[in-house]
Amino acid sequence: MKKEDVNSLLSFYQERGRELPWRSDPTPYHVYLSEIMLQQTRVEAVKPYYFRFLSSFPSIASLSSASEEEVLKLWEGLGYYSRARNLHKASKIIQEKYGGIIPSEEKELCSLPGIGTYTSHAILSIAYQKPYIALDGNLFRIYARLTQEESPFEEKAKKRAEDFYLENIPSRAGDYNQALMDLGELVCLPNGAPLCEKCPFSSSCLSHQNSCEQSYPKQLPKKEKREVSLTVFLFIYQGEVILKKREEKGLLASLYEFPNIEQELSLDEVKSLLEKNNIPYSSIQKEKNKRHVFTHLIWNMSCYRIEVKKKFSSSFRKISTLASYPLPTAFLSYRTLLEKNDR
Ligand code: ADE
Repeated sequence: MKKEDVNSLLSFYQERGRELPWRSDPTPYHVYLSEIMLQQTRVEAVKPYYFRFLSSFPSIASLSSASEEEVLKLWEGLGYYSRARNLHKASKIIQEKYGGIIPSEEKELCSLPGIGTYTSHAILSIAYQKPYIALDGNLFRIYARLTQEESPFEEKAKKRAEDFYLENIPSRAGDYNQALMDLGELVCLPNGAPLCEKCPFSSSCLSHQNSCEQSYPKQLPKKEKREVSLTVFLFIYQGEVILKKREEKGLLASLYEFPNIEQELSLDEVKSLLEKNNIPYSSIQKEKNKRHVFTHLIWNMSCYRIEVKKKFSSSFRKISTLASYPLPTAFLSYRTLLEKNDR
C-alpha cells in the first residue's frame, strides 16, 4: 500500500475508529482474550462476555488456576467452545512455561493451543506493535477491491494481500491493523454497496475507479451444511431433570446436554422407546421444534417433556441448579422452559 494511503488510513482511524473495550488498555492478555472471543463472533456479542470474563479472571494467573467448567460456564452462549478450552489450556502453559507472560514471538505463540497465524499476528501487532498483518476476511476484502484481486481467499492470494499491507507498514502496527478492521466493518462493507464516499482510499481503489466494488472479493464455492435430526428428552421427576456431561472430544466437548438421539422420533416411537427401556411415565408432552445452525452442521431438534415415575439414572439434577452448568446455546431455550415451569 502506498505511504499516502497508510497516512490517510491512520487519520481515518483517529477520527472515526471504534472505541472498543479491549482498545483502551491493550495489554497482551486483553488483546489475546478479545481476539479469541472475536473469532467468528460479532463485536457487540463479545462485549458483555469480555467484561464478565475479565472480572472473574483478570490475569493469566487467575485463568490458569480456574477449573475448565468455570471457564466454560463464562463462555456459555458465545459458541465455539473449543476456543474456551484452548484458552484455558494455553493459560496453564503460559503460566508454567513463560512465567505468566504471553510470548512475543510468532513461533512460540503459534505453539499454544488455539492460536494460529491470524491470532498470533493480531497479538504481535496490537499488543507488541510488531510489524505483522492480521489478515482476516475484512482485510482481504479491502485488498481485493483496492487491487482487483482475481483469486478468492486462498493461500497465494492471502500472501499477496499480506505483502501488499506490509509494504509500508507504520510503526503503529496495531493501529494500522485495527484501522483496516474498522474500515472493513464501517465502510468497505461485505454485503450490499460499500460506502466509498467515506473511504480514505477512494481515489486509489481500482474497483471503485471501475465501478465494480461488489464483484470483489471473488467468492469460494459455499460448503453445504450437513443437517441432522435430533430428538431431545426432558426427563422430569419431582423438580429434577436429567442433565449429562458430553464427551471430552468433538462437538460441544465437555459441555452439558439433555439426553438426545440423532433421529427424529414421533410421539408413538417415543412411547415405545420408553416401554422398551422400562421407564414408567405419567405424561409426555411434545415441545416446539428448534433449528440450531453451527458452522458446518444444522441440528433440527424435536423435544419431548416426559414426567417419569421414578429416578432411573444418576444424572438427575435439581432444575433450580441448572444455571450453574455450562450448556450449549442449542439447549438453552429448553433450560428456560424448565425453569419457567419449575417456579
Ligand atoms: N475483530 C478481530 N479483532 C478485532 C479488533 N481488535 N477490533 C475490532 N474487531 C476485531
